[in-house]
Amino acid sequence: MKYELPRLPYEYDALEPFIDAKTMEVHYTKHHQTYVNKLNEALEKAPEIADRPLDELLRHLDEVPEAVRAAVRNHGGGHLNHSFFWTIMKPPAGDVAPGGKVAEAIDASFGGLAPFKDAFSAAAAGVFGSGWAWLVIDASGRLAVTSTPNQDNPIMRGERPILGLDVWEHAYYLKHQSDRAGYIKDWWSVVNWQAVDEAFKGGSGGAIAA
Ligand SMILES: [Fe+2]
Repeated sequence: MKYELPRLPYEYDALEPFIDAKTMEVHYTKHHQTYVNKLNEALEKAPEIADRPLDELLRHLDEVPEAVRAAVRNHGGGHLNHSFFWTIMKPPAGDVAPGGKVAEAIDASFGGLAPFKDAFSAAAAGVFGSGWAWLVIDASGRLAVTSTPNQDNPIMRGERPILGLDVWEHAYYLKHQSDRAGYIKDWWSVVNWQAVDEAFKGGSGGAIAA
């Protein structure tokens, strides 16, 4: 099973002015491509697991041969995370509030959109070094805000992500330099709430095909 970059569902400049075209191009063609390449290299060294779905490998890292475990975790996680990340963004269109079932769940779990955004933004700002902030459905079926280091994905601990934000510096440094808070604030304008609602209702939740 050989992995490839998924198609980007919009042009590099589609998220301007909130996320700039150069960042999108480098993020997709360099960073994401490198995760794909290094994941493929790792799986070539472990053919006994190469045909197992990536999300399954990440849920059961203890079953991945130790020689390639870190590579599958980091580069497989990087591929899964970025494949999901592209889908939960869309060109800014003014409709920046969630609808559907996920809106009801956010209201019930966080007391409204504003408190949820505050909690999520704080989690994103609070990631030390490189990592991700997430809105997940946790093991008990409840919505929760959380974060992961590096390229870890919440599925590694039994949670299902329905929204995620990359807070690695490569995601914002060209435009926002060290202003991670400014990047987080801008990013809310390009969240694809329809995709989040679909993930909430039982879509892929981050699962991808090779
Ligand atoms: Fe990234």
